[in-house]
Amino acid sequence: MVPTTSLLLLLSLALLAPSLSAEKCVLTGRWTNDLGSNMTIGAVNSKGEFTGTYLTAVTATTNEIKLSPLKGNQHSTNHKSQPTFGFTVNWSFSDSTTVFTGQCFVDKDGKEVLKTMWLLRSHVDSIDDDWKATRVGINIFTRLHKRWQ
Ligand code: BTN
Repeated sequence: MVPTTSLLLLLSLALLAPSLSAEKCVLTGRWTNDLGSNMTIGAVNSKGEFTGTYLTAVTATTNEIKLSPLKGNQHSTNHKSQPTFGFTVNWSFSDSTTVFTGQCFVDKDGKEVLKTMWLLRSHVDSIDDDWKATRVGINIFTRLHKRWQ
């Protein structure tokens, strides 16, 4: 007869095993997306807040592209290995703002990937132009290992 404590131990191991084996997706680091844009995300603090920088490869304007700051939040449930997040890019070279929301996944090959959707709000001079001021899209980010900037 197996003692109750051993049974309880086996049961807890069986319950914990999936979460222990799941690899964690970490936002901090350098990322590149399908457009060739690059971003760096700093440390995520205990409240889930982070800051970083974004260098877009494309622009809806005719302005010269410059490095722009970003601010975001990772969902506060620390235990989740594939957290959701959101961040805002305050473009330094245009009057536009982009918000991204997404989830940090570990794919079947163990590679981290950020699946995001974004809304780009461009500045317009008149309320009559409001209808054409917002673009929507998706971006997929993978970790950048080589140096840039
Ligand atoms: C602007 O054109 O006013 C600012 C740059 C916008 C770049 C957009 S944000 C969504 C998409 N993803 C990128 O990496 N760049 C474009």
